[in-house]
Amino acid sequence: MNIVIIGAGRVGLVTGSCFAEMGNNVTVIDIDENKIQRLRENIVSFYEPDLERLVRKNHKVGRLHFEIDLANCLKRVKAIFIAVGTPSNNDGTANLCQVLEASRNIGRNIKHDILVVIKSTVPVGTSQKIKSIIQEELDKRRVGISIEIVSNPEFLKEGTAIKDFMNPDRVIVGVENEKVQKLIDELYKPYRIIYTDIPSAEMIKYVANAMLATRISFMNDIANLCSLIGVDINMVRIGIGFDSRIGTKFLYSGCGYGGSCFPKDIKALIQIGYTNGYAMQLLQAVEAVNNNQKTILFDKLLRIFENNLKGKIVALWGLSFKPNTDDICESPALTLIDALLKAGAIIQVYDPVALEETRRHFGNKLYYYTNMYDAAKNADVLLLLTEWKEFYSPSWELLKKTMGHSILLDGRNIYDKKKMHLNGFTYIHI
Ligand SMILES: NC(=O)c1ccc[n+]([C@@H]2O[C@H](COP(=O)([O-])OP(=O)(O)OC[C@H]3O[C@@H](n4cnc5c(N)ncnc54)[C@H](O)[C@@H]3O)[C@@H](O)[C@H]2O)c1
Repeated sequence: MNIVIIGAGRVGLVTGSCFAEMGNNVTVIDIDENKIQRLRENIVSFYEPDLERLVRKNHKVGRLHFEIDLANCLKRVKAIFIAVGTPSNNDGTANLCQVLEASRNIGRNIKHDILVVIKSTVPVGTSQKIKSIIQEELDKRRVGISIEIVSNPEFLKEGTAIKDFMNPDRVIVGVENEKVQKLIDELYKPYRIIYTDIPSAEMIKYVANAMLATRISFMNDIANLCSLIGVDINMVRIGIGFDSRIGTKFLYSGCGYGGSCFPKDIKALIQIGYTNGYAMQLLQAVEAVNNNQKTILFDKLLRIFENNLKGKIVALWGLSFKPNTDDICESPALTLIDALLKAGAIIQVYDPVALEETRRHFGNKLYYYTNMYDAAKNADVLLLLTEWKEFYSPSWELLKKTMGHSILLDGRNIYDKKKMHLNGFTYIHI
């Protein structure tokens, strides 16, 4: 099938590459000319495991193309996917400028009947707005063609995006009528497709993220209580996780959630509540707990160093908001680094892939290392912020020798307390 994807970001490029891998003929377009030029040279501007291989392979065999101008790639196209960004406005509402501009672009250029698929995360009602905007543009041109619209929110996770897209738990598709289902079935054939109406599909995406963020904040809140009353949160986690009604996933306490989705989507849902005269009390608490959680490691540092971090060498392992991505958007590392800089600490950082993103954000205010032990050199304290696999069993001997001290703060609770004490570390966890 001939498909166009608007937006060559994390979702658009993964969607395009995976559809091409399934045998479709895909053109991905973006307004960022530099991004498109690099993609034509098979260079992906962000880190996502296996993505560059898929881009190169499908580009080479001629199933994946990159364009700037939508008008150049509409011949025989059956579906256009909108996968542009929906960042937060200052008040927390979803900013729909990119989505609305992409819709106008479709309306200005399309010359035949087409299916428009909305992949971006958008508030309830947006798909209808998109349809109206496309129709307005068609009316201006006096073109009488038919536009079908579906909402197909994306649930991929950064770091495992290809795997998630190729093996989804389910594909949600909100439709206005059954006519379009044949095309959707053809596209997503082997997968479990759940058809809903459009508003439900739009809402499902927000509610899924809100539920996951709630589990994280819930466990962090419980962890903070546990630490006050001398209970090990890890044992509590294991104990409740075996209850099949609860399950084991998203029960890990840590230094807070981040990324380009949870924070903005929680904010947007709270705002959708306000707009409709309903206070989303639970989600407000989820957000407040998370904001507080991002400050917890800094508070622990202040206690260790008696409120004086000036000149202290603080080493950080992990900067991305989670492993296997270079995304540092709303990462707990950013909050911590801001506080450490204000307190006058010397900050030495290492991350397997997010160093460049971090350098773009903080410039020469930090010391960057491409080796985890070098980053810990002469450090007064080491903090683990992202649970990358390579941090799970370092050489404790080497680390102790490299660091001036042996204090370790574990922001993700990946180490065993008893073993760490045996290894000679002062070990503090969440
Ligand atoms: N990142 C994730 O893990 C994830 C997961 C599920 C859903 N989502 C949702 O998917 C959507 C896209 O997210 P993303 O992370 O890929 O965003 P992104 O910011 O990485 O990418 C968006 C891309 O769209 C391009 N763009 C903007 N306006 C355009 C236009 N008018 N025409 C052509 N290109 C345009 C931008 O240049 C950019 O390259 C968002 O709504 C997001 O909430 C993201």
